[in-house]
Formats: sequence, C-alpha cells, structure tokens
Amino acid sequence: MNADFLWGGAIAANQVEGAWKDDGKGESISDHITAGTKTSPRRFTKEVREGEHYPSHHAIDFYHHYKEDIALFGQMGFQVLRLSIAWTRIFPMGDEEKPNQKGLDFYHAVFAECKKWNIRPLVTLSHYEMPYHLCQAYGGWQNRKVIDFFLRYCRTVFTEYQDEVDLWLTFNEMNTLVSRFGTLLGAGILPEDGADMFGLGRMQTPETKEEMQARFQALHHQFVASAKAVALAHEINPKNRVGCMLSAAGVYPYTCSPDDMLEAQWQMKKSNWFCGDVCIRGAYPYYMERFFEENAIVIVGKTEDADILKKGCVDFFSFSYYTSRCVTRNAEVQKTAGNMMLGVQNPYLKASEWGWIIDPKGLRYLLNAIYDRYQIPVMLVENGLGAVDQLTEDGCIHDDYRIAYLKAHIEQMKEAMKDGVDLIGYTPWGCIDLVSASTGEMKKRYGFIYVDLDNEGKGSGKRIKKDSFYWYQKCIASHGEEL
Ligand code: BG6
Repeated sequence: MNADFLWGGAIAANQVEGAWKDDGKGESISDHITAGTKTSPRRFTKEVREGEHYPSHHAIDFYHHYKEDIALFGQMGFQVLRLSIAWTRIFPMGDEEKPNQKGLDFYHAVFAECKKWNIRPLVTLSHYEMPYHLCQAYGGWQNRKVIDFFLRYCRTVFTEYQDEVDLWLTFNEMNTLVSRFGTLLGAGILPEDGADMFGLGRMQTPETKEEMQARFQALHHQFVASAKAVALAHEINPKNRVGCMLSAAGVYPYTCSPDDMLEAQWQMKKSNWFCGDVCIRGAYPYYMERFFEENAIVIVGKTEDADILKKGCVDFFSFSYYTSRCVTRNAEVQKTAGNMMLGVQNPYLKASEWGWIIDPKGLRYLLNAIYDRYQIPVMLVENGLGAVDQLTEDGCIHDDYRIAYLKAHIEQMKEAMKDGVDLIGYTPWGCIDLVSASTGEMKKRYGFIYVDLDNEGKGSGKRIKKDSFYWYQKCIASHGEEL
C-alpha cells in the first residue's frame, strides 16, 4: 500500500464522550434513547426518565479520558482519527446565536492532543447527535429552518478549527433516511413516547404517506445543508476536503431470476446510489422520479435548490461497510436485519453474533462499483466486527476473531486497489470499545482497546490493549504488508 494511505480509526461523540451535561452541553437526540440488547430494542423517551439507563450520558467518558485514549491511538501509529463534534457542545439548543465557548475549547484540546501524535482529525459534522430542542421545537430535519441552524454551526467550527482540521464529513450515513430506520436518529423526527428506536414495531404496518413524505423532505434538507456546508468549507479554507458518508452494502440477488435481478438493481440504486449521486454528481438521479411519483412524494424545493446542489459537490466518497445483503421479490424467503438494512440470508456467508453477514469479498465488489461510478477518491471510514470479548485472569483479551475479520477485509481492500480503485484511507469503527448504536450495549465491542464497562455502564473504565492492538500497530507500521 502507498505510504500516503491514511490508517486510523473511527469514533462518534455520542458513543464515547459521555459528560452529557458538562460545560454547557445541551441534550442531543441520542441522549433520549435508552439502552437495549440484541433482543430488546432501544427506546425513545420524550423526557429523560429517572431509573432508565441512557448509554450516551456517560458512554466511555472520553470527555475526561481523551488524552489517554488519543495516546493509545498514537501508539498504534494512527495517521488519522475520525471523530464527530457534538453539535450540542457548540450550540446546546441548536438555534442560539452564539456558540458555547467551553464546547469550542474542548475540541481545541482534543485536536491539540491529536497533533502531538501526528494524527490528522477527520471530523463528522453530524453523527446521530442533533440537538434535541431542534427535534422538539422544529420537527427535526423536515423543517427547512434547520438548514440555517446547521450552517451557523458549520461556519463556527470551520472558522474556529481552520488551523487544526482540513478533513470533514457532513452527515453520518445520510442514506439511512431512505428507509424508516433513519427517521429518528438521522432525520430527528420524533415518534411517540416510548417507541422503539428503529420503529421496528411500526414496521409491521405500512408507513403512512405523511411519514414517508416527511422523511424524504428531511433528506432533501440534508442534501441542501450538505451542499451548502461543502461550499462554505471550501470558501473558509481552500485546503478543506469534504466527503459524504454513506452506509453502503453490496446488494446481491437471492437467485438469478430476473425478478430478483431487478430487485437487486433497484435496491442498489435506492440505498447506495441515490444519496451518492446527489452529493457527488450534484443532482437528483432520474430513477427516483418514478418512486416519488408512485408514492406521491412531493419534495418542496427540489427544483429551486438544483443550483445549490450543483455547487456543493463533495471531494471524496466515504462509507461504512459491515455487511452485504441479499434481496428477493419472493415473499416466502425469510428476512434478517443487519446494520439498519433488511435482507435475506446468503447461504454462502456466515453472520456475526449479532446477525450481521460477514463478507470481505463484498467489500472489493463494492469498492469497484463505487469507483466505477464516481471516479473520485474513496475512504472506508467504518468497518469492524462487533463481538463479545473475554478478559482473561491475567488481564488480556485474545481477540483473534477480530484480527481475522479485519485482515480479511484489508486483503480485499488491497485487491480493490490493485483493481485500480483510488482508496485513500481506512478508519475501522470503534477503535476503542464504545456504546453500540443499534443496541446501546457495551458488550458489542469493536475496539483494539478494551474498556472495562458493562452494559449498565458499571466497571472501572480502565483501558486495556487487546491482541488486535498489537496486530494493528504492526499492520500500520508495515503499510498493510504484515497482516
Ligand atoms: C454505523 C454507525 O451504522 O454502524 C455507528 O455509523 C455504529 O454509529 C456502527 O456504531 C456499528 O453499529 P452498532 O450498532 O454495532 O454500534
């Protein structure tokens, strides 16, 4: 691999920072989501309830451990750290005129620490942590006013950190809004009190016309916000490089029947290409028109905002990759869930303990498909295995299963690069154990670094290097040669 390939890891504020009320931070949407498990869903509550466990409130307390944690990343040889800024530390309610100085100071301190270790920050502007007030008072992203609040926040952080950050991502997994999974965390549209986070209960019934309309309108507002943020980032600092961030998965037809082929083609367009096309090509793609028409979706501003979208194309494509999925139009075949996507079981592949299909070769397939389509630099900013780890009596974690997973994926990245894909970096997810987004658990661990906390947030919080820590250190030092 090239010496300028960026190796690192990825985290998000709401899953690591904790300190949910410290130094003026406001409540985010994630602060209203309870813990769940593999079998019982996380729930949204309108008020923070006494006696309920909300994992983001304390998470792994990165807020007070960032020096120690970044030092560990530095020891592994990270060249890049993907992290998000909590919007609510900078604008606690979201609609204030002036930012919160203490919030700004915190990220200055974090970036300074990164600099000490020669780690380049890659900052996600919004990673499932929208100010809760904007959801309650404005209806989340379905309200156009939120674009201006977001841009005020962007202007503030682009200006404030112009000497510290030049790599940015706009919205984490923006394409989750294409399905109902993204309604709450992505779009900030609140369900009824106590509803399960992904609306799994509601999914038993067809989505109403109004819900679908609101979701696609919210997505349009994020397209506009993203495009404006890209233009603004370039204006404030011409060195800034801004990427889109999509949750991507290869889509395979379950059989070679033409029906399944057509379904796979459509799902690929709708879930993978639609948002990428808008962010990279700067316009709504032709194939969504029929879908909008058949579902009576009318996007306000779609025509008027065309010029904004054209002028705010991103510089690179970034994505999360955990799994591929298999689709069919045969209703008899059983569906499985995995990272906010529904598909059917692929008989050629195994799944993780949480039912996510493991498919390293699917990564090579997808990287080629992405690069074929866009021909701009690509970065893999999330990937990894969520697994239960055992701490041995002598204080070790032998996570050979995680090493095997990452090794297989890096091998396929290398193949894709030999195929000609311009892959510029890799930041595996949850480089330090953190709160799982889908289940709220701690025991679904991704890290190279173990954090001694259980699902209830109890434990010493001590950081312990896993076997994968030393493996990744070697991998980085050898530019991916020693796996
Ligand atoms: C991605 C999100 O969907 O998947 C992360 O961007 C999330 O926030 C990651 O943590 C892994 O999912 P989970 O549910 O295992 O934490």
